[in-house]
Amino acid sequence: MDTFMFHNPTKLIFGKDQVEQLPEQLPKDTKKVLLVYGGGSIKKNGIYDQVLKQLESADVKVHELAGVEPNPRLTTVRKGVDICKKEGIDFLLAVGGGSVIDCTKTIAAGAKYDGDAWDLVTRQATPDGALPFGTVLTLAATGSEMNGGAVITNWETNEKYGWGYAPYTYPMFSLLDPQNTMTVPKDQTIYGIVDMMSHLFEQYFHNDTKSPVQDEMIEGVLRTVIKTAPKLLDNLESYEHRETILYSGTLALNGMLQMGYRGDWATHNIEHAVSAVYDIPHAGGLAILFPNWMKHNLDVNVQRFAQLAVNVFGVDNKNSTERETAEKGIEELRSFWTSIGAPETLADYDIDDEKFDVIVNRAMKRGKFGNFTKLDEQDVKEILEMSK
Ligand code: NZQ
Ligand code: ZN
Repeated sequence: MDTFMFHNPTKLIFGKDQVEQLPEQLPKDTKKVLLVYGGGSIKKNGIYDQVLKQLESADVKVHELAGVEPNPRLTTVRKGVDICKKEGIDFLLAVGGGSVIDCTKTIAAGAKYDGDAWDLVTRQATPDGALPFGTVLTLAATGSEMNGGAVITNWETNEKYGWGYAPYTYPMFSLLDPQNTMTVPKDQTIYGIVDMMSHLFEQYFHNDTKSPVQDEMIEGVLRTVIKTAPKLLDNLESYEHRETILYSGTLALNGMLQMGYRGDWATHNIEHAVSAVYDIPHAGGLAILFPNWMKHNLDVNVQRFAQLAVNVFGVDNKNSTERETAEKGIEELRSFWTSIGAPETLADYDIDDEKFDVIVNRAMKRGKFGNFTKLDEQDVKEILEMSK
């Protein structure tokens, strides 16, 4: 393992009715809160009313930024920054999934920056402060509730990048109540499962040979998600299964599983390029791309893929070569995702190869990428071709 320093400043508050903790968690001198939310799901399922009730009891003035898009856009970030500057907002509260949280993170930093927030996302500038913010998570998927990352799309230039700057882009607190995820529809529940599994894969593929604790933890969370997902999809209102998946999603990307090495993250980079050009759900893209990234890179470290096959997918390796075992594991992943209803090919989203060059160009914007193995233009093209 490499040397590392771990500091996650987010206070995680988990369980039934924990939204009641909101007034107590707000910084003492909070006067004006910007409530940030998406396209209206929180109004339909009652979370909006619950949160407003808590904010009223905290005696703060509430401003609102509604309509954050899935794959949140720079234009919405700018709107939020304007409100913060004009109204003198002193705290932001994100109520929603990863998109609402990522938008809030970028607004929080943008509000303390003199230039355009896009400079921060593209890392042309670094923030030197941010407004404090908290979250009420309503969808288990990204881990954004307990990490410092944010992904923003500039729809004018078809660019989508992840960025973050510790400690400013970490939530002060996150309130996670499994009940608040009960109304997440089946398709979004599937995407959430694929996304958290992909985060675990990204961190599993690295070049450090001595990571037995991390391996066991990642394998354990993956096995739990694989075991729980079909049961949850059969009964979307199961508190028990919502709870397991919610906790898994947070653990999958809060830094706990990636201490002492760097995960790969190439598939996420390619997916962000795909969804910058075609506005598809992030995890829909991952479900298509990840098995192909695996096939493409099998020979980088066959043993690693074989270990995944045996320890996570229960592949019997007695009469097989290591390579056959590894290949079987990738097939098992593909069939598992297909069995729960995730997409398999870009054609499932009516995407053909017409704009592959643009996607490759966007993916290569910051040069060769991936930490397990570096991908160049040709590699990205091949993975896209395999995903048609
Ligand atoms: O907008 P509303 O009306 O709220 O509806 C949302 C949205 O349509 C709906 N939803 C959320 N909670 C619900 C609900 N519907 C019913 N009941 C509820 N309780 O679900 C839809 C999708 O929401 P979204 O926030 O877009 O999903 P997700 O959490 O998967 O976030 C995806 C975004 O996060 C980025 C992705 O690229 C994408 O932009 N990522 C962020 C990461 C991070 N910050 O660490 C890492 C990830 O890898 C990812 O890239
Ligand atoms: Zn993801």
